[in-house]
This record gives sequence, structure tokens and C-alpha cells, in this order.
Amino acid sequence: MLDIFTLGDEVLRAENKKVTVFDDALKMLVDAMFDTLVEADGVGLAAPQVGVSERFFIVDLRRGEDSRYVFINPEILETSIEECPYEEGCLSIPGLYHEVIRPQRVKVQAQDLSGKHFTIEADGMLARVIQHENDHLNGILFVDHLDDKERERMEKLFYKRQKKGRKLR
Ligand code: NI
Repeated sequence: MLDIFTLGDEVLRAENKKVTVFDDALKMLVDAMFDTLVEADGVGLAAPQVGVSERFFIVDLRRGEDSRYVFINPEILETSIEECPYEEGCLSIPGLYHEVIRPQRVKVQAQDLSGKHFTIEADGMLARVIQHENDHLNGILFVDHLDDKERERMEKLFYKRQKKGRKLR
């Protein structure tokens, strides 16, 4: 189980480097991220969330080997004009959710763990999670998509809860 960094931690806003070495260390880190994702009951996790400033993320919508996606050095090639709302959360902003409007479909190119390039077209929940996780690689959190007033309200709420949590310990 890896530590998940949360709102206010600088690593979430840092610049992330492209992955150039596809070795066993990367595979082990990705495995640990999948374990962490299951443990945290999430659907996606990006490297900067576990303190690694590199451009990759994982997705697992259904909990199983066949539903696991690894996107390394992803590029979103196309997004649909059609948009849809969804109540988003983030393991780096635990306990808070807000509706975010994003394109319904995306076409994304990335590399897998062996460095091989692939392209997929995603719709619905998969498209949603890909966009959310890809944002993490650019230092963007879902609250950044809200208007200033809503974002500040969410941030205040988060820090207030965090402070309370610390006092309890
Ligand atoms: Ni997130």
C-alpha cells in the first residue's frame, strides 16, 4: 500500500516527466498502485498521487486482471463535442464530490508496460476516468474545473475536515 498524497501536497502540482525506461521497477510500481487502488476503493490513480512525478496512470473500473488499464505517456488525441456531467471524486481529495462537465468520449494514445504504443476510443465512465487521471499528469485536480467560488468552498471544506482529523489523532 502506497501513500496517497492529498490536496495541498506540492507533488500534485509538480511537473511530470515522460517515462523513458520500461523496466521491472516500473512494473512493480504499477502493481503496487493497483493494490493501493483496490485498498482505497478507487477507479483510477495517477503517478503523482503516489509521489512519483512521471506521466502515467492506471484505471480499473471492475476489479480484475482483464479490466486493468495502464496508460504511459498518454496523449488525448480527440474529444467529443458532446459533453456530460458526472459527480466526481478523487483519492487525493477524499470525501468530497462535485459535478464536473467533460466530453463524453475521448480518443487516447499511450504506451503499455512494455513500451508498445496503443490507441483506444473510450466512452462513458472509462472516458471520464481517463480525462480525470490525465489531468493529474498536468497538475490539474477536478476542483480546478469548478468556478472560483465553488473551488474555494470545496478547498476550505477539505482543509477544515483535514484539521479536524489531525486533532483526533
Ligand atoms: Ni484524482
